[in-house]
Amino acid sequence: MSAPPPVITVDGPSGVGKGMVTRGLMQRFPGWHRLDSGALYRILALAAMRAGLDLGDPDAVAALAPRLDIHFGGSSEDDESIRLDGVEIVDQVRSETAGGLASKIATAPVVRDALLQRQRDFRQAPGLVADGRDMGTVVFTDAAVKIFLTASPEERARRRAKQLSARGEVVRLADLSAEIRARDERDRTRAVAPLVPAPDAIEIDTSSLNPAQVFERIDELLKTRGLLR
Ligand code: C5P
Repeated sequence: MSAPPPVITVDGPSGVGKGMVTRGLMQRFPGWHRLDSGALYRILALAAMRAGLDLGDPDAVAALAPRLDIHFGGSSEDDESIRLDGVEIVDQVRSETAGGLASKIATAPVVRDALLQRQRDFRQAPGLVADGRDMGTVVFTDAAVKIFLTASPEERARRRAKQLSARGEVVRLADLSAEIRARDERDRTRAVAPLVPAPDAIEIDTSSLNPAQVFERIDELLKTRGLLR
């Protein structure tokens, strides 16, 4: 049997630069597929709300997962479109509300299991860049390269505020900071797939690094693993 397509995983809490790193990797590996696993959790939470389900009922939420008709992006790399049942929902998916709801349903093992195969289905030739919380520890344990990003909560709140205001969402930095800490706590302490680096992940603290400096480290890593020349 031929080897499965290579995977690069990018894990870490929100506002840590996963989007920036993922985009940089997609430029380095044209034609590779991308999995934004957080978006799957966000979409499932939104769909459950719309269906009038109780988000505290994980069995009902999980049962919805296989029925979701999700479509990411178009043909171009920077097409950020996300469609659910044919309807564009990218703005709702990226909202702070959806992030909070996602982190609530994500604590349930039955919900995580329901999304597992869906995530693995993204692994197709020539390769995959997958970002989230447990890409390296659970979903793609055999990934060729595992990156785990960290940054101080203050820096992450600042970055998130910038992203959200670019989308026209008005947020108070203090509220955002509190929400980020609460979400981190939930993600780190949950019983299944907690937010921790895989033993073989390379950790990069991005607090005081600019994108070019982050990529200096990543490119070096990709070269040592033979993925980049
Ligand atoms: O990365 P993003 O902010 O879109 O993720 C939203 C929430 O979904 C996270 O706070 C986390 O609780 C959950 N999530 C997860 N596992 C992943 C990706 C996201 O539990 N692989």
